[in-house]
Amino acid sequence: MSITPPNIILHAADVHKNFGGLRALSDIDLQVEEGKTHAIIGPNGAGKSTLLNVIIGRIPPSSGAVIFDGTVLTGKAPYEINQLGISRVFQTPEIFPDLPVLHNVMAPAFARRDGAFRVNMLRSVGSEHEIREEAEAILDDIGLHGRREHHAGSLSRGDKRRLELAMCLIQRPRLLLLDEPTAGMSRHDTNTTIELLRKIKSSGMTKVIIEHDMHVVFSLADRISVLAQGRIIASGLPQEIKEDPRVQEAYLGGGVE
Ligand SMILES: Nc1ncnc2c1ncn2[C@@H]1O[C@H](COP(=O)(O)OP(=O)(O)O)[C@@H](O)[C@H]1O
Ligand SMILES: [Mg+2]
Repeated sequence: MSITPPNIILHAADVHKNFGGLRALSDIDLQVEEGKTHAIIGPNGAGKSTLLNVIIGRIPPSSGAVIFDGTVLTGKAPYEINQLGISRVFQTPEIFPDLPVLHNVMAPAFARRDGAFRVNMLRSVGSEHEIREEAEAILDDIGLHGRREHHAGSLSRGDKRRLELAMCLIQRPRLLLLDEPTAGMSRHDTNTTIELLRKIKSSGMTKVIIEHDMHVVFSLADRISVLAQGRIIASGLPQEIKEDPRVQEAYLGGGVE
């Protein structure tokens, strides 16, 4: 197994995943540098969501390991991995539809204060008043403050995804994983989300983002890894990836995702 360099906060080392006879992931070595935004792109069916699910503990790898800040995640339950400071925005938003938007954002902060996040508490969290203020500030950032009293279930698909992002942000994760955060959004909403993700970027939070929208990828990513048929065929700076003939070739066969 390869050695993890010190500035690497997340390392998927020699990860393989088979679904029966299908090799969904082979020889994966993904290294994510602390504080960076690392994008994973690749054609449909390349294994991107599988890799994310392996990282968050939803799918056990067939072999290999995932290491986060020196801790081996492999074998831990998803909630334990979340407690270590890893949050994921799902492809399908997981919200409380019958609660007001504001309360949806406050709920994970209470969980953090009251114990669910105690393993890696990044700071002490105070009163309900403070949590409400923080939730309102995040809602303001994502452009949902005006709808804070609406039931979350009444939001549009794009707004639900932003709400879920807000629910992750209030947890102040060290690593945020995003699976196609702008899927189903209008161009305007996509741009608002890019702006928000830029703000998060300057906060120093490490992000892994799966994205099919090249505009989003090239506006945000510090590094890009390209998955094709379960293998990482290229990893590098955005400019290097753009010019890589292997990447262009991989995209000629399947559609660009
Ligand atoms: N739970 C599963 N059982 C069997 N095959 C799966 C499962 N999840 C994904 N696959 C297969 O693994 C491959 C990679 O899928 P996925 O990770 O969803 O790709 P991507 O997110 O890049 O589109 C696909 O061929 C898909 O059909
Ligand atoms: Mg996917």
